[in-house]
Amino acid sequence: MRKLGKVFDSVADAYDAARPTYPDEMYHALSEVSGVEFAGAMAVDVGAGTGILTRALRARGSRVIAVDAGAEMLARLHSKVEDGGTVAVLADGNALPLTDGVADLVTYAQSWHWLDPVISIAEARRVLRPEGAIVGCWNFAHAAQADWLAAYEVRLAEACPTYWGQALEEWSVPPIAAALDVVEERWIAWTRLIGIEDFLLDLRSHSYMAALSPEAADELVARQRTELRKVFPEGVMHVPMRVYLVVGR
Ligand SMILES: C[S@@+](CC[C@H](N)C(=O)[O-])C[C@H]1O[C@@H](n2cnc3c(N)ncnc32)[C@H](O)[C@@H]1O
Repeated sequence: MRKLGKVFDSVADAYDAARPTYPDEMYHALSEVSGVEFAGAMAVDVGAGTGILTRALRARGSRVIAVDAGAEMLARLHSKVEDGGTVAVLADGNALPLTDGVADLVTYAQSWHWLDPVISIAEARRVLRPEGAIVGCWNFAHAAQADWLAAYEVRLAEACPTYWGQALEEWSVPPIAAALDVVEERWIAWTRLIGIEDFLLDLRSHSYMAALSPEAADELVARQRTELRKVFPEGVMHVPMRVYLVVGR
């Protein structure tokens, strides 16, 4: 747990500043499929990080217990907590410090793949109310939709020994659907408008970048900047994105 927390803690500022939010359509789908109304619901957001999903759930009227193993990530979340409806807890998502049957939703936004695939789901089921739902979601740049993006991913695969992404033939979405019952999956497409420098800051927040030496990371960012400027000379990028949403029990 400490080691994982450290991976993201070292890039917490970049994560907080540059990672994308999730589109409104995802929240509509989540509520529709799970049958859970956000207003008044209790959500346990596991691997909450800097609070991207936590804040959106809170804005829709849920109370949120945000659990993360990374102190620096959680500090960014805590600094933006605006009322008593959000509680930030430094803990392992595989051993939730919560009593049984308290939650309507247990959410894993970009995080379930960091946890134990069996123990985490047993914990989620333990803390859920009988009608509650388990939710996984991941925001991906959709490389198949743009040649420049596919080439960008290939450069990452070549330079980052721990890269895991769409440039690899064996890449697939995290297998949370196979770990759940009564599962529904949705893909939600959207477009991200972002400046090149913010996009490169987002790049720095990925675990495979955090695993590089600072010199190697700088070199790769410089190379990506050069290539992206050729495609987007005006500096504003249109990035095809898609969210993979899984809701189950
Ligand atoms: C990719 S970030 C996702 C953050 C946020 N949910 C989002 O949507 O951007 C993964 C988060 O999972 C956390 N994490 C990793 N292993 C964990 C564990 N065993 N228990 C709790 N959190 C964990 C990391 O510290 C990190 O903040």
